[in-house]
Amino acid sequence: MQWRRGKELRELFLSYFEKNGHRVFPSFSLVPDDPTLLFTIAGMVPFKPYFLGMRKPGFKRATTAQKCVRTNDIDNVGRTARHHTLFEMLGNFSFGDYFKSGAAAFAWEFLTEKVGLDPSRLYPTIYREDEEAFEIWNRQIGVSAERIYRLGEADNFWSVGPVGPCGPCSELIYDQGPLFSCGRPDCGVGCECDRFLEVWNLVFMQYNRLEDGSLEPLPKQNIDTGMGLERLASVVQQVSGDFQTDLFKPLVDRSCEVCGIEYGKGEAGDMAARVISDHFRATAFMIADGVLPSNEGRGYVLRRILRRAIRFGKLSGVEKPFLMDLYPTLVEVMGDPYRELIDQRSLIEQVVEMEESRFGRTLEQGLRLLETEIGTILSSKGDSLPGDVAFELYDTFGFPFELTEEVCQEQGVSVNRDGFTDQMEKQRERARAGARASSRQIGGSVFDKIRDESGPTKFAGYVSDSLKTRILAIVSGEKKISRAVSGDETLLILSETPFYGDGGGQVGDRGTITGDSFKAEVTDTVKHAGDLIVHKVRIIEGDVSGGDTVLAEVDHERRMGIKSHHSSTHLLHEALTRVLGDHVTQAGSLVTDEFLRFDFTHMKALTGKEIEDAERIVNRQILENTPLEIIQTDLVSARKIGAKALFDEKYGETVRVVKVPGFSAELCGGTHVDATGDIGPFKIVREEGIGSGVRRITAFAGLSSLEHFRKLSDTVAALEERLSVPGDKLEKKVCEMQDENRKLAGELEKLRLRLALSRIDELVAAKIPAGPVYVVVGQYEGISSDSVRSVGDRIRQKISGVVVILAAINKEQAMVIAMADKKAVGHGVDCGRLVRTIGGELGGGGGGRPDMAQAGVRDIEKIGAALSRAPEIIFAMTGETH
Ligand code: ALA
Repeated sequence: MQWRRGKELRELFLSYFEKNGHRVFPSFSLVPDDPTLLFTIAGMVPFKPYFLGMRKPGFKRATTAQKCVRTNDIDNVGRTARHHTLFEMLGNFSFGDYFKSGAAAFAWEFLTEKVGLDPSRLYPTIYREDEEAFEIWNRQIGVSAERIYRLGEADNFWSVGPVGPCGPCSELIYDQGPLFSCGRPDCGVGCECDRFLEVWNLVFMQYNRLEDGSLEPLPKQNIDTGMGLERLASVVQQVSGDFQTDLFKPLVDRSCEVCGIEYGKGEAGDMAARVISDHFRATAFMIADGVLPSNEGRGYVLRRILRRAIRFGKLSGVEKPFLMDLYPTLVEVMGDPYRELIDQRSLIEQVVEMEESRFGRTLEQGLRLLETEIGTILSSKGDSLPGDVAFELYDTFGFPFELTEEVCQEQGVSVNRDGFTDQMEKQRERARAGARASSRQIGGSVFDKIRDESGPTKFAGYVSDSLKTRILAIVSGEKKISRAVSGDETLLILSETPFYGDGGGQVGDRGTITGDSFKAEVTDTVKHAGDLIVHKVRIIEGDVSGGDTVLAEVDHERRMGIKSHHSSTHLLHEALTRVLGDHVTQAGSLVTDEFLRFDFTHMKALTGKEIEDAERIVNRQILENTPLEIIQTDLVSARKIGAKALFDEKYGETVRVVKVPGFSAELCGGTHVDATGDIGPFKIVREEGIGSGVRRITAFAGLSSLEHFRKLSDTVAALEERLSVPGDKLEKKVCEMQDENRKLAGELEKLRLRLALSRIDELVAAKIPAGPVYVVVGQYEGISSDSVRSVGDRIRQKISGVVVILAAINKEQAMVIAMADKKAVGHGVDCGRLVRTIGGELGGGGGGRPDMAQAGVRDIEKIGAALSRAPEIIFAMTGETH
C-alpha cells in the first residue's frame, strides 16, 4: 500500500466518485439548515430533504468531504487516540439511483484498488437479517461467508437522529494486524481496540423514523456512506491513532511547543496536547461558520470546548492566551480546501482571544473555589459536589457544567447534576417571567399534511401586492375546518399569495383577503412546514369556506416601509464591512415597516466616526439610485460573484441573490425596493452590545426616518421657544444652565448647613435623657450626609455622655447617622447596633463602629417615628451600667 497524505486521500476519494458519475460538492456549513440538529454530524445531513423526498435534486449521485462535529463524547476527546469533536467524513450518496450492490462495489473497489488495502484484511459486517447484503458481499464481491459478520441494531442500523432518514447498514472493518491488538484472547472483529478498525459505513437509507418511533418506507431507496478521513489516513499511514496522522500531528506538535509539553513523556501532557489540538481545530471551524460563544445551543458547545482547551493549557502551565499560536499551523494543514479558515481569520482571532481573556480571569478563582470544595468533600468522606456549587461555578466563574464534572472526576468526586439542573431551571424561570411570550407559535403537523398534499405556497409578492387566488385550506386549533364566520380568528392557506411569510429577519405582511361572501383582515403571515405560507386572519364580515376565490391584498404602505428597511439592511451590512473590516458577519436581523435592527460580529463599541461613516456610505448609495438586480443561480456561482451568505442559508438547488450592482450582493428571499433611491433617508439611531462579540444597530429608513427627524425638529423648536435661543446655540445654553444649577445647588446647601448649625443649641436644649446618657435627635433635608456628620460632630463636642442620631434626606438617598462620645460608649452604647435596628425598621441596612455608624434607609416617611424610638433603644443598651 502506498503512503499518502490526508489531503491526497481526500482528493483521491472525490475524484474517484466524480469519475463514477457523482456530483462533487464543497463541504457544507457546520451549521445545518435543520432545526432537529445542532451541528452537521454526517455527510448526509445537507442532503436530508432529498432522502426524505421533500425536495428533488437535479442529480442522482453526489459526493463530499464534509466537515462534521459530534458532541456526544467531548470528555473523552484527548483521553483516547480516536475521539474527536470535528472530523471530516468522506461520503458518496445515491438518491434513488444505485443501491446496496452499487455501494458495496464502489467501496470495495476504492479501498482495495485505489487505496491499496489488502482485501484479505477487510471484513464486511451486515445487519442481522440482511440476506441481500450477505449475498452481495459473498457472491458479487467474493468475500467468503465466514468473514462476513452479522451484527445487531446497535452496530448495523444507522439513523441521523431520533426522527428522520435511517436504514440498515454494512460496515467495512480493516484488520491492522496483531501489532495493534489489545492482546485479549477474544480480540476479533467487533473488538473496540485498534486492531479491527471500522473504516467505512454504508447505510441503505430506506426508512423515515417518525415521532412515534415507527418506520415509514422512504419514497425511494437511497445510499448514504461515511468514512472518517482521519481514520483512513491513520490506516494508510500505519500510525497508532488519528493524532499521529499528517492531518493532526503538526497541530499536536505545535501545541506541545506552545505549552512546553514533551510528547510521549507522560500521559497528562500527551492528553493536554491532544485536547488542545482537537478543540482548537473545531473551535476555528465553528467560528468560521458563524457560531459564537453563548450559554445555549451550539454557542454553548463552542464555549465548552474552548474553555476545556484553555483549562488544559493552564494545566500545562500556560499563563497567557495561547490558542491563536496554533492558527498558522491549522491553516497550513486545513486552509486548502477550507478557505473559510483564512477568510474568517480576524473573527476567529477576536472570538478566541476574547474568550481566553475572559475565562482566563475567572478560571483561577473558580478552580480555587472548586479545590476547596473538593477538599471539604474528601475530608468529610463525601463523594458528591452539591449542585448549587456547580451552578455558582457556572454562573459566576463561567465553568461549563461538564468542565466542573471533569475536574471533580479527576479526584474521584461526582457532581449532583439534578441539583445543578434545578438551579438552572430556576434561573430560566426567572428569565422567562420577564420575557414576552412569542405569539408566533402555531401548532404543527396539520401544515405538514397540507404541504404534502398541495406542495409549497407559490409566493407572488416579489412582483405584485394584490392577487386573485383561491383558499386551499382553513385551519383552526391545529385542525382543518371547512368554514369560518364573522368574528372568528383563524388561519388561511391560499394556493398562491402576495403575502410574505415571516422569515429571513423580515416580518410577515398584513392586509386583507376578500371573497364574494366575506372580508378578512390579515394580522400576520408566517411560514410552516418549510414553505407553506399561513395567513393569520380575523373575519370581519360574512363567512368563508374552503375553495372560495378571493382577492388577497397586502397593505401597500406597510410593505413599502418593509422594503425600504430590508434593502437598507443590505446596504448597511456592506457599509459596516467597509468601515470595520471583513470580520463583520451578520448575526441576526429584524426588518419591519418601522425600523430595522441589524446584529453583527464585532468586538468593540463603534465610535461616533464609524457610525457616521457607515451611515454616509449607505446614504450615498441611496442617492445613486441604483436599480437592484435579482439573480437566480446556484450556490457556487453565487459565492463566485461574492454574494454574502448567511451561515444558515438554505442550500437548495437555486438561490436568490439580491444585488446592488457595483456595491453589494447577498443571498436573500426578502422583498426589496426597485432602486436604492426608493429607500429614502437612512438614519442610525442606536448602537449597542448584545452579547459576547455581537453588536446591534437600530436604524430608520424612508418615512420612518422622516418621522424621526420631524419629532427631533419639533423637540428642538419647543426648546428654542422655551429657552429663547436659536437651535445652534441650544447645547451651549443647556450646558450653561446645568453649570448654573450646580452652582445654585451648592450655595443652597451651604445656606441650609449654616441654618442647621445656627440651630444646634435648640437641638442640644431638647436633649432627651436615657439612663446615664443623653440622646439628641434631628432631621435634615437637602443637606449632604457629610455636612450632617459635621453637625453631629459639633453636637458631640457640646455635651458629655451623648448619642446623636441624625437623618439626612436627599433626592438620591436617605441616611441615618449615629454618633456617640467615649463616655456614652463606656455606658454600653453601640452605634452599629443602633443603626442596624433603626435602619432595619426603615427598610434599609448599614453598620459601623460603636462610636460612629450609618445606614441607608428607604421608608422616608417613617423616619420621624423610628428616630423617636431611639432613646428607648439606647436606654436598653445602657441597661447593665445603671
Ligand atoms: N451517515 C452515516 C454515518 O454517519 C454514513 O455513519
